[in-house]
Amino acid sequence: MDTLEAIITRRSIRQYTPQNIPDDKIELILKSAMYAPSAMNYQPWHFIVIDRKDAIEELQSIFPHADMLKQATLLIIVCGDSKLEMNIDYLVQDCSAATENALISIHALGLGGVWLSIYPNKDVINGLKKTFELPENIIPMSAISIGFPAEVINTESRYNITRIHSNKW
Ligand SMILES: Cc1cc2nc3c(=O)[nH]c(=O)nc-3n(C[C@H](O)[C@H](O)[C@H](O)COP(=O)(O)O)c2cc1C
Repeated sequence: MDTLEAIITRRSIRQYTPQNIPDDKIELILKSAMYAPSAMNYQPWHFIVIDRKDAIEELQSIFPHADMLKQATLLIIVCGDSKLEMNIDYLVQDCSAATENALISIHALGLGGVWLSIYPNKDVINGLKKTFELPENIIPMSAISIGFPAEVINTESRYNITRIHSNKW
């Protein structure tokens, strides 16, 4: 799959088969995330990789919209390090760029994934901080539920020329 096809055909996948994800694919997902752009190239991210089914299912109670964790075989929690990027607005943007890179590579590798909201929901942040005993400077930002896809989702065209403003508004 070429890059443009991966970007355009990526969809949020919430149904998975029970098949485990091989380590080499997990490494490629994390590598893709770490090649994301970041302000001043601080790369202020950490990734908590959870591949134990029981641990993933237990986390379901922390997330508000995460039924798909019953089937997920892998969960990655993208965290920002406020010692590496002190501006929270940049920290959010950097971690979001890493999350999207990961999602595109997940699709390109024949897997399925979906972005799970964490930041700025304080209950979810605090729930994860407590569960993983995170240091003060580590802020969970987003999570990615992953598995081999058990659904195919096509979407209508999203190319919208009314959102494009040529040289002036
Ligand atoms: C910041 C953000 C938070 C999201 N949180 C959730 C979530 O908690 N649960 C979920 O099922 N999907 C979540 N999504 C996925 C969106 O629902 C999905 O991207 C959107 O419906 C568009 O569909 P697509 O990803 O298939 O293009 C989130 C997406 C983003 C960007």
